[in-house]
Amino acid sequence: MGQIDDIAKTRRTVKLLPDQSLAGPGLSRETVEALLETAGFAPFHRACAPARCGDGAVEPWRVHALDKAGCVALIPRLGDLPKTPGKIVNMLAAADALLLVTWLPEEGREWSASDLNMEHIAATGAMIQTLLLAATEQGIGNYWSSGGVLAREAFDVLGIGTEEVLLGAIFLWPDAPDGVEAKPGKLRGQRSAPAHWTRWIEVPVS
Ligand SMILES: Cc1cc2nc3c(=O)[nH]c(=O)nc-3n(C[C@H](O)[C@H](O)[C@H](O)COP(=O)(O)O)c2cc1C
Repeated sequence: MGQIDDIAKTRRTVKLLPDQSLAGPGLSRETVEALLETAGFAPFHRACAPARCGDGAVEPWRVHALDKAGCVALIPRLGDLPKTPGKIVNMLAAADALLLVTWLPEEGREWSASDLNMEHIAATGAMIQTLLLAATEQGIGNYWSSGGVLAREAFDVLGIGTEEVLLGAIFLWPDAPDGVEAKPGKLRGQRSAPAHWTRWIEVPVS
């Protein structure tokens, strides 16, 4: 088995939902930045639209990072939102870090109609998966969440511009302490072999 094969198969969704904050130092910023350094090598086909990337970075993604202290400090701020934050609060209480990964659409909110935007989303997804693999290699538990209230309602609190769209709220975890259940992803057990979703094309030889 090659190393990437092992890491890809070891990566798995883990969700920690404790009732109270977990003690511990969390991940250092240096550790998180090393993961992002790796993730930043994901492929991307198009530079983000100049009008959209005012900070000058050409990548179609942006990352908004919270360390453990930031995750805990965010919890009471979410209480003011009109929509209930639900399990996000429990996860913030557990997380060693949270990375909010957004992408920058070309055209307002009508982004689904554009090929360019499809490629921006694909590239950002590749970046997130690379991040998850890098975390897995380091033994850091992880979870790609759609984000719940973090996906929109909390943008103001988080200082994220409305021109960005959240693709993933990436929770990075400590080891689950005794008594805290580590929940798996719902579809984990339904994964099928490539033969179920792959077709060899037989091109007639002319
Ligand atoms: C784009 C994306 C969004 C996801 N959002 C959620 C989510 O909001 N809640 C959740 O429980 N799992 C979410 N997941 C994780 C999936 O449930 C998980 O990947 C799936 O069950 C397969 O499990 P595995 O990651 O362990 O292979 C998301 C995964 C992706 C790729």
